[in-house]
Amino acid sequence: MALIAILPGDGIGPEVVAAARRVLDALGLDLTFEEAPVGGAAYRAHGHPLPPATLNLAKRADAVLFGAVGDPEFDNVAREHRPEQAILGLRKALGLFANLRPAKLFAGLEDASALRPEVAAAIDMVIVRELTGDVYFGEKGRRMNGDARQGYDVMSYDDNEVERIARVAFETARTRKRRLCSVDKANVLETSQLWRDVVNDIHADYYDVTLTHMYVDNAAMQLVRNPGQFDVIVTGNLFGDILSDQASMCAGSIGMLPSAAINQDKKGLYEPIHGSAPDIAGQGKANPLATILSAAMMLRHSLGEAQAADRIEAAVTAALVAGHRTPDLGGTATTGDMTNAVLAAL
Ligand code: IPM
Ligand code: MG
Repeated sequence: MALIAILPGDGIGPEVVAAARRVLDALGLDLTFEEAPVGGAAYRAHGHPLPPATLNLAKRADAVLFGAVGDPEFDNVAREHRPEQAILGLRKALGLFANLRPAKLFAGLEDASALRPEVAAAIDMVIVRELTGDVYFGEKGRRMNGDARQGYDVMSYDDNEVERIARVAFETARTRKRRLCSVDKANVLETSQLWRDVVNDIHADYYDVTLTHMYVDNAAMQLVRNPGQFDVIVTGNLFGDILSDQASMCAGSIGMLPSAAINQDKKGLYEPIHGSAPDIAGQGKANPLATILSAAMMLRHSLGEAQAADRIEAAVTAALVAGHRTPDLGGTATTGDMTNAVLAAL
């Protein structure tokens, strides 16, 4: 029996995770669930955004279903106590170096996209984002530069970090259209030049995959100009953070996109890519589909339940085809209505 750690977090996290729980329960699989606080909620209750008991649960579990963290109430507490540190700490502690962020336009959502419908309709990509390195985890701090106060964050990648994410990306491309675009800033950054060299080296093992390289500024432009050109994108932590938010808006709504963060042993943390949205928390306005689709990714990537994952994805497609729309998609369905629609389709 698989153990799932449920970490709802802040803002709309608890609502969307509860929705995904209802869908998982309806599948009749042999799963047990254990819940723990994380983020601002954990800081409030235990004085730390990632209390030891929560981290332990995440380590013991076969997979983690995560809501969202972030609460404006804690904008001014010390960085190590901010809610965001919980997700960064979990990624690091569990070695979740590979972040898969599929962005696909569901039929019927063409008009929800910020792009022209005929441009948006072609979106079907996976962004493979490196998740435990880069400027996110480098040395950082404040110092004096002469008379000036200076903030600094060091960007770096080791070749072994690039190699392992490149392999995940090439493997992912093999399950799709076999096209991989590596995004970097090699015209300016030495970190990126090493990235590019290593990706080219690893390509020797995957000659059946077509590899291209693109600078990140151009990639940002191409994502709105012609997003249909992308199959799999591989990029570093910072660029991947930015490009995946952008891709989500192109694909209709940030409320639609799931993600998986997996480690060497295929253990993973699954979360919607959206944040805690404190402005709409507790009002039943949140779109639960990104979290429901994250649960599907969990079944596929960590629990070996590909069929159950397919069922969830088909039910989400059916709920949308039937016309159910939460406010982010231009409709009035509540979180509960949308979840009921998915359950009905299951
Ligand atoms: C994401 C989020 C996180 C990140 C924040 C909450 C630390 O934006 O998962 O994309 O920057 O990685
Ligand atoms: Mg982000």
